Amino acid sequence: MQGKVTKAIFPVAGLGTRFLPATKSIPKEILTLVDRPLIQYAIDEARAAGIEQFIFVTSRGKSALEDYFDAAPELEGALRRSGKTALLETLATTDVDSGAIAYVRQHRPLGLGHAVWCARRLVGDEPFAVVLTDDVIAGEPPCLQQMIEAHAETGGCMVAATEVPRETTSSYGVLDIAAEDGPLVRVRGMVEKPRPEVAPSTLAVIGRYILTPRVMAHLDRQRAGAGGEIQLTDAIAEEIRCGGAVHGFRFRGRRYDCGSKAGFLQATAAFGLAREDLRDEFSAFLGGVMGFARAAE
Ligand code: UTP
Repeated sequence: MQGKVTKAIFPVAGLGTRFLPATKSIPKEILTLVDRPLIQYAIDEARAAGIEQFIFVTSRGKSALEDYFDAAPELEGALRRSGKTALLETLATTDVDSGAIAYVRQHRPLGLGHAVWCARRLVGDEPFAVVLTDDVIAGEPPCLQQMIEAHAETGGCMVAATEVPRETTSSYGVLDIAAEDGPLVRVRGMVEKPRPEVAPSTLAVIGRYILTPRVMAHLDRQRAGAGGEIQLTDAIAEEIRCGGAVHGFRFRGRRYDCGSKAGFLQATAAFGLAREDLRDEFSAFLGGVMGFARAAE
């Protein structure tokens, strides 16, 4: 059995340019699927996996995120006075114990690897998780919990992996597969954003990782990679070169890329339809829209 994973880093310092102008004044992580912001889905998944310390790597213009996890005494008082208990319970899902949440700043958006490295002192000498809020994953048990359970047996580093169409490999870190054992994939290399014709496989890394402190040591070198950014993939690939064990994990569940507009719309439809209080009205609406679309063809 390996050391327990109790800390998670949430890198939220990116510019979110694909959602401009919305993200000019609102952090991407506050964009909402039905009635919960992306960051809430990420925190809920981490909590379900047993994470106790939540480390946010933020940047200028992200104060709405800190406010989101703060107490809201006026709002809570008003709801209490008017007896709105259900809403108070909903609000309680944003509570995080004092001291369980920490914020560090990434002063310049130098890449995901750099953002993770900014949290190195808070992580210390323990394995840690990294959760990208863009990737919302519907899964039971939730994806990070599946990974932490598998990691208890494997140790080392683990990345969530999913098959993608070959023509899209240049949007992902892609795994070079050494061997497969059920959902576990032993990895002999990783390439960031390879062109389809040179991609070592179509098994791509998505935004859940369990990493060892040695990956932080590789990030210390601050080498820029694909797109001129300091890439987390490169540091994990370096760990493989140094003989460290790295596994891909084919999680059970459906991942939505909420960093893209199409993925965000798909997630909105899926999570809307999954809600009992909205399902009938929303599916009737969608059926009507599809009918219009077919008639127009
Ligand atoms: P993305 O590649 O999606 O970049 O980052 P982005 O800035 O968020 O969005 P676009 O592409 O401009 O629309 C993946 C994750 O890494 C974080 C982002 O916040 C996001 O969670 N990130 C990226 C950082 O924290 N710092 C960086 O320098 C880069």
